[in-house]
Amino acid sequence: MSIQNKSLRIGLFGFGVVGESLYKVLLEKKNLNASISKICIKHPQKKRNAPSELFTTNPDALLDDPEINVIVELIDHAGDSFRIVSKALKNKKAVVSANKKMIAENLPALLSLQSEHNSPLLYEAACCASIPVIRNLEEYYDNELLQDISGIVNGSTNYILTKIAKDKIDFKTALKQAQQEGFAESDPTLDLEGHDAANKLSLLLLHAYGIIQHPATIPLCGIQKLKAADFTFAKEKGFEIKLVARALKLPNHTVTAFVLPQFINNDNRLYQVHAENNGLTIESSLADKQFFFGKGAGGFPTAAAVLSDLSALRYNYKYEYKKRTYPIVSPCTTDVFLNIYLSFEAGTIIPDSLFRNIQLRNLSNTHCYIIGTVQLSRLREHTLFKQQNVSVILMPEPEIISSEQEIPQQEAYQLV
Ligand code: HSE
Repeated sequence: MSIQNKSLRIGLFGFGVVGESLYKVLLEKKNLNASISKICIKHPQKKRNAPSELFTTNPDALLDDPEINVIVELIDHAGDSFRIVSKALKNKKAVVSANKKMIAENLPALLSLQSEHNSPLLYEAACCASIPVIRNLEEYYDNELLQDISGIVNGSTNYILTKIAKDKIDFKTALKQAQQEGFAESDPTLDLEGHDAANKLSLLLLHAYGIIQHPATIPLCGIQKLKAADFTFAKEKGFEIKLVARALKLPNHTVTAFVLPQFINNDNRLYQVHAENNGLTIESSLADKQFFFGKGAGGFPTAAAVLSDLSALRYNYKYEYKKRTYPIVSPCTTDVFLNIYLSFEAGTIIPDSLFRNIQLRNLSNTHCYIIGTVQLSRLREHTLFKQQNVSVILMPEPEIISSEQEIPQQEAYQLV
């Protein structure tokens, strides 16, 4: 159903931090010709700052209402979200969603549903909240040959890393603050272990390169195992530690993708991205490097992206997924070598065979670490990297070496 030039009558799912922010904005911005008709919530006993007659616990009261032409889905349960979005698309309603987990895990089905029922699904808010990256990748970089996307895409972990490094706050307190600010997921392990970043990376891979990669297949390490010694090491070397999502095209035209903590030098734009902000460097063959920066979590910044999608529905905008027709749509490769810092407790057995080469080994009583190159496939599969006392951080230089390249000599890292 085309909603071009029509007033938007919205059925809203979820009234959390983002849902309530959207409600407030729509109350104020009358010129948008958009209003919320009904709001579906899970817990009716909770006190809400909106008239009680707007609320229902029955999803079908929104999904089957012929007067509602747009469903805005802002809940945190991926399974429920998929059922809601699928039914809405089948019922020919336009859908705006911020549920990165649900979208990333169901891309093939969601692409089919959109084309089968000719209903649009927009999700700018699902990746980097206020930064308009999805529509830029889809439209502006339509003909540009993208080489590399490297970014901080999770606000909570960046907030925690900033609090630890700059304000000397401990991990637990910083996480609590991120939760109180409304940045963290209901299940914060999704943020801490890198899953939220992997979900967002999966959306970036689709809109940048046309690759559908299930987030569970993206190699990742989160920030949950970083130790005080790792932050001390970073400080001594003048690095910031950031959780970085990366999607890089290799000389053989395949793409590699992963989420890892990384030491960042002060000549990298990401060095200046603090607190809940996100930042993305996009490198393309003609434009060279471009940098996107903005708030990556929080009620109003996320609602801003939802609002932009609602406006886009006005001119019948939908994603065309044009890059799905590009020649390179093979799954991401893990046949690359990464230059990593591996930190562990004294007594942990680290087989040399794990590394293609070792540049530095520091085995003091207070801090044990090895700097060397490891194949991404091993990093993903080897049980050592899953151990609680082992943390991995990508070195700033050289970060990635394709399997055909020689490993450059690296002598820059001195024993501390
Ligand atoms: N938990 C997410 C984050 C919310 O911290 O980035 C925004 O997607």
